[in-house]
Amino acid sequence: QSARALAVCQLAPVVPVLVIDDLAHAAPLAQALVKGGLPALEVTLRTPCALDAIRAMAEVAGGVVGAGTLLTRADVKAAKEAGATFGVSPGATDALLDACAEFELPLLPGAVTASEVMRLLERGYTVQKFFPAEQSGGAAFLKSIGSPIPQVRFCPTGGISLRNAADYLSLKNILCVGGSWVAPKEAMAAGNWEAITTLAAEARALRD
Ligand code: 3PG
Repeated sequence: QSARALAVCQLAPVVPVLVIDDLAHAAPLAQALVKGGLPALEVTLRTPCALDAIRAMAEVAGGVVGAGTLLTRADVKAAKEAGATFGVSPGATDALLDACAEFELPLLPGAVTASEVMRLLERGYTVQKFFPAEQSGGAAFLKSIGSPIPQVRFCPTGGISLRNAADYLSLKNILCVGGSWVAPKEAMAAGNWEAITTLAAEARALRD
């Protein structure tokens, strides 16, 4: 179930979480992040141009583009049609998991309690998102849950930045972290793609 999510999470220590307001930003943003060493890109379905942004970014060489904020079957269908090669969801429902199976979209599903982690594990998800990470107990929680449930590995997201990413990445059950800090709104608005490449390179260097 999680083979594709595992491969995506192993590409780099950080998966950028992207909120794209202007379609024109999509391609240069993807190029800047790939150039900095972050090939896996999560485009959140939170803005009107998100699906078109996925289409544009899917053309960028070296990028591996997924759709985030998947909540419904319709989101899954639209993400797949736009060319997303993986999906990310803040939590998980049976309807959403069924939709990902129906449309063959590999999913990184969100969980935040031991029971949620176990329910996803029952359905074969050994790679999960932990969201919102900092607000839900952070690295200390993930370290603890690794004792009884070591077979699940995580991509924590939410409140993570260069400041605290290493706390997570040092844990055995963490594959990578997700975060929006590598693509600040101001840099995108200013077309400052070099700044974004620098942020990506710093993030990439969290693990060598
Ligand atoms: C999100 O879905 O918004 C992500 O968790 C990103 O969180 P961040 O903005 O705190 O990095």
